[in-house]
Amino acid sequence: MGGSGEPRKASGRVSARALKQRLESLADAGIADLPRASSRAARNAPAAGQSSMKAAGQSSGKASGKAASPAPAPEQLLDVIRGEVAACVRCEQLACTRTNTVFGTGPATARLCFFGEAPGADEDASGIPFVGRAGQLLTKIIEACTLSRDEVYILNVLKCRPPENRPPLPQEVANCREYFERQLAAIAPEFICCLGTTAAQALLQTDEPIGKLRGRWFTHGSAEVICTYHPSYLLRNPNAKRHVWDDMKILLARMGVDL
Ligand code: URA
Repeated sequence: MGGSGEPRKASGRVSARALKQRLESLADAGIADLPRASSRAARNAPAAGQSSMKAAGQSSGKASGKAASPAPAPEQLLDVIRGEVAACVRCEQLACTRTNTVFGTGPATARLCFFGEAPGADEDASGIPFVGRAGQLLTKIIEACTLSRDEVYILNVLKCRPPENRPPLPQEVANCREYFERQLAAIAPEFICCLGTTAAQALLQTDEPIGKLRGRWFTHGSAEVICTYHPSYLLRNPNAKRHVWDDMKILLARMGVDL
């Protein structure tokens, strides 16, 4: 991991196979063109009538002589990835044992994403992340931050439940990386809060323990990243709740959210 925690490869490069699969999925969804820029850039693009030399040159299609089509909305991109995840059989064991894939919930334009580990039994049954005991605690943490589940996006590293809730295997994280990286790129949140070791280490591509990672700022793409303990850990170690609250206060201060 570099000092910033920036992933070296995953966010930037895609294999030819992954690119082909993505183009096919976009075509299946009726999306003819790939976005020219990140969804954040699209969202920050000047509104109609505002002047910007760069935007005018890019969107007029003058250089290519073709009419420009708008970049797919984040919701559309998420729907494409959701469909790929639902059909995924990269992890044979997980694909055979899952009831539902658990893609993620929340607004596609959320400022803040909570990034967890993997679905448990309740999530596997419902297809919704963080709805079991740990999820109820996460909901309380979100509400303590004066936010609601409806205004944040919640996703996991793995989209399928590991049997007996065992920790994800490195190969499973590798298999799911393309999905969560594209999911985060589509949302382009300003902030990501990693919940626990698996999420923090997967996103930041580090082996450092959560105790060392929590309460510090990292970056991932254009997002600022903070890590804290997983709600399941808090259920077993309630004394650690004060550390999570310290981390949330750091996050909220940076977000400009008043408590
Ligand atoms: N733990 C997680 O990491 N994710 C869930 O969705 C539920 C429990």
